[in-house]
Amino acid sequence: MTIVTGVTVRVPAKLNLQLAVGPPRADGYHDLVTVFHAVSLFDEITAEPARRDGVSVSGEGADRVPADGDNLALRAVSALRAEVPSAPGVHITIAKRIPVAAGLAGGSGDAAAALVACNELWAGGFGPPQLAEIAARVGSDVAFALLGGTAVGRGRGEQLTSALAPATQYHWVLAFADGHLSTPAVYAALDRQRAREQVPAEPGLDAALMSALRSGDARLVGRALSNDLQPAALSLFPALRKTLAAGLELGALGALVSGSGPTCVFLAASADRALDLAASLSGAGVCRSVARASGPAPGAAIISGAR
Ligand code: C5P
Repeated sequence: MTIVTGVTVRVPAKLNLQLAVGPPRADGYHDLVTVFHAVSLFDEITAEPARRDGVSVSGEGADRVPADGDNLALRAVSALRAEVPSAPGVHITIAKRIPVAAGLAGGSGDAAAALVACNELWAGGFGPPQLAEIAARVGSDVAFALLGGTAVGRGRGEQLTSALAPATQYHWVLAFADGHLSTPAVYAALDRQRAREQVPAEPGLDAALMSALRSGDARLVGRALSNDLQPAALSLFPALRKTLAAGLELGALGALVSGSGPTCVFLAASADRALDLAASLSGAGVCRSVARASGPAPGAAIISGAR
């Protein structure tokens, strides 16, 4: 018998290459059509046996992550325990590199990683479809963090279809903002903006983006990036306009607010161009810090402690 004392899982941040948002539903959520894209900016989560469930967080923005039952990773542990009633306590340690409340689904990623780690630690034996179902109960973006790559999300974002794109690697520059945005507040701002206009009942997948992804041409992908939440995020965080404009002036192929923001992301033509763009942007004084990442990146995966 193998005794596993701790399992560590690495999980990527996500961007939305398209985020089309429908009107609010009766349950308060919005129907979406989105193209998720996982990038090589990773959190690491370790699950170890403990008397009681608990969580500790270190790294980027750790002080903003709740350490109680509101923590998404702990909610994921509870959701999995509902399926494995005999499971013992677990302590989750989160090493954060994905900024908190930044539009990069860091919290959802941590939840996905906790599911994968506890499934291994408890020998839960759940396969990808069952884990995806549990993930969807924890949050809208959790199932995608399990899957990774590039995928189309529908419903709340939890109904996924992998987008089979060629093996192109895209080179991104991420501009982290000096501030945060709450996802529900950004959706609410969008609803207020839209109270004055007609909203299409069914958001649709962008054919130009899908064909750009099939071609693997970064220039076409850059032109087709879109995010319905962007005007709402900009209304709550007007300084992001300058950040987006600066990146485009510096030669990015495309620019957009990531998810509900406030991180801005820029597509570069190559790894070298991304390096130049990152250096210029960090000197331009339009964000707190910058990072480079490439995508698509794999979903949540065990990096040590596997059976
Ligand atoms: O599912 P998750 O907890 O990540 O969603 C956070 C919040 O974002 C929700 O409470 C809701 O206000 C908003 N949301 C939405 N429609 C979605 C996804 C999220 O309105 N499809």
